[in-house]
Amino acid sequence: MPVPETITPDGLTLTARPTTVSLDDGSSLHAWTFRNSLPGPTLRARSGDRVRVVLENGLGEETIVHWHGLDVPQLADGHPRLAVESGESYAYDFSIRSRAGTYWYHPHPHGRTGPQAYMGLAGFFIVDDPENDSLGLPSGAREIPLVFQDKRLDGAGQLVYAPSGFDLMEGYLGNVPFVNGAPFPYQVVNRDLYRFRVLNGSNARIFDLALSDGSPLVLVGTDGGLLESARTLDSIFLGPAERVDVLVDFSGKEPGDRIVLRSREFQISGGMGMGMGSSSGQGQAMDLMEFVVRDSEVGQGSMPVSLASLPPAPPQAGAPVQEFRFSSHMMSHLINGRSFGMERVDHRLALGDTEIWRFINESPMPHPVHMHAGQFRVLSRNGGRGQVFPWEAGLKDTVLLLPFESVDVLVRFEEYRGLYLLHCHNLEHEDAGMMLNFEIV
Ligand code: C2O
Ligand code: CU
Ligand code: CU
Repeated sequence: MPVPETITPDGLTLTARPTTVSLDDGSSLHAWTFRNSLPGPTLRARSGDRVRVVLENGLGEETIVHWHGLDVPQLADGHPRLAVESGESYAYDFSIRSRAGTYWYHPHPHGRTGPQAYMGLAGFFIVDDPENDSLGLPSGAREIPLVFQDKRLDGAGQLVYAPSGFDLMEGYLGNVPFVNGAPFPYQVVNRDLYRFRVLNGSNARIFDLALSDGSPLVLVGTDGGLLESARTLDSIFLGPAERVDVLVDFSGKEPGDRIVLRSREFQISGGMGMGMGSSSGQGQAMDLMEFVVRDSEVGQGSMPVSLASLPPAPPQAGAPVQEFRFSSHMMSHLINGRSFGMERVDHRLALGDTEIWRFINESPMPHPVHMHAGQFRVLSRNGGRGQVFPWEAGLKDTVLLLPFESVDVLVRFEEYRGLYLLHCHNLEHEDAGMMLNFEIV
């Protein structure tokens, strides 16, 4: 399995361009990449560090980069109104106000985020801080980022992005699992404890992650960093753009053991795609990658008992409720009955105010809802699954709504005023306009 190079995002040129990358089996893949890397290089810095990146647009169309999950000034946030044409560049300069966590970056031009991310433009942005350092979690070769993406390949083994009307409705699903830019790879591991930073980087696919031998996934963090304590889980249900930080203990395995990390089959009630006879349907079981246990000493890594302290949650009492209704019918994907307006402000709130945002899914299909400019707390879920899951604890910037669910989240913006986005992170829905501007004043 490839692991992208880790680089410091200070004084960095990030060129987006079409590239041919070589895969391990000797074949080559035409992709769109940052710095010729599929996925993009892992950017890694510390809370408080300055980020100076120049995006160079070497694509044949406009683009702009967004730092997903980081709270940055509006001109550094990658709003589509800031997109630059082919041959132009855009300079980012901000400091990291966010706590340690697994963030990521990807393009955000209006109407073209889906194809650009699908063709390979996405990478991790990992933030460290003293609290994370102090926990002694696995690091170095035992800390591995994993981005899961589903792809469709043509007869020559090349990426295909050609959504049909049905795909534009459901989102673009593929039937070939890619992990860190390679199809169904394997990773050799020692008999030790590992930390995996997992990103669902798919356009539309939901994964129900589990290990084939029944080994647990120990959840230590979510979108916005570490939890207060670890949770031992059999499976994790992850929508597009969501992240989890998990520990897996291979110390009890035998040399030569092979363990598959897979997405289990699941049903979405009320969901689209039932009976469509599609081999790439949402909820289909999919083996993603394999771990091969090497003949090695049993490691000394131990499971942490307590983890990080979360920042205090904003006070809920008296917080006004703001409703955002997500609807999909015919070929339109709307929020509160409207499609994205580049300059239109759909909601305003003051810096420092607390609100409850109620995301209401009025459609028979999933919507992973994502908010820019910081992190929220998931308070409750009504309808559908009717509960908040362990992987929705802590700080979150994306929450998955299955058909007809409604989710309340607690929001408060603390850093910057300006124009930011709320949207569905099913990228075909986003590109179709399931997105709005809110302004922090
Ligand atoms: Cu990862 Cu506005 O998105
Ligand atoms: Cu974002
Ligand atoms: Cu959606």
